[in-house]
Amino acid sequence: MENADADIVFQSYGRCCKNERFFVDFYDRFMGSSDEVRAMFVDTDMKQQRHLLRNGILQLILHARGMPDTKLRALGESHSRGGYNIRPDLYRQWLDALLDTVRRHDPEHSDSITDAWQRALQPGIELIRGAY
Ligand code: HEM
Repeated sequence: MENADADIVFQSYGRCCKNERFFVDFYDRFMGSSDEVRAMFVDTDMKQQRHLLRNGILQLILHARGMPDTKLRALGESHSRGGYNIRPDLYRQWLDALLDTVRRHDPEHSDSITDAWQRALQPGIELIRGAY
């Protein structure tokens, strides 16, 4: 069941990544969700950040497919209170922005695909969030 989710999400992500606008739209949505989030990226090179996120999401999906969690642990460290200090409650906004962006960009989008994203990414997000 879990692996079926990961496969659905892997395919969906492939369709989303065909269009570079996916990451532009994600950050527009995510930063538009609150002034607090926007403020965190004022000094960020967004072109570079979009590339880093592309890989970060891939790591979340690979984790759902059973890959080791070394990369996610590093993200947990960088986002923790000793790093960017990302409060755990902000991850809901992050996931909502991502799911909205998938709905707009995946030509085959459906509720069951969005649900699969949510279930597949949850454990990896919890790992990063839990390192706070
Ligand atoms: C599970 C969800 C998330 C993933 C996969 C993710 C992924 C990444 C990646 C790959 C980087 C660059 C590598 C690094 O610096 O460690 C990064 C940097 C960053 N992330 Fe996240 N992130 C997530 C959630 C969040 C949330 C919720 C926030 C804020 C509300 C946030 C804010 C930042 C900031 C401020 C940076 C540094 C930007 C800079 O270098 O100027 N991230 N994130």
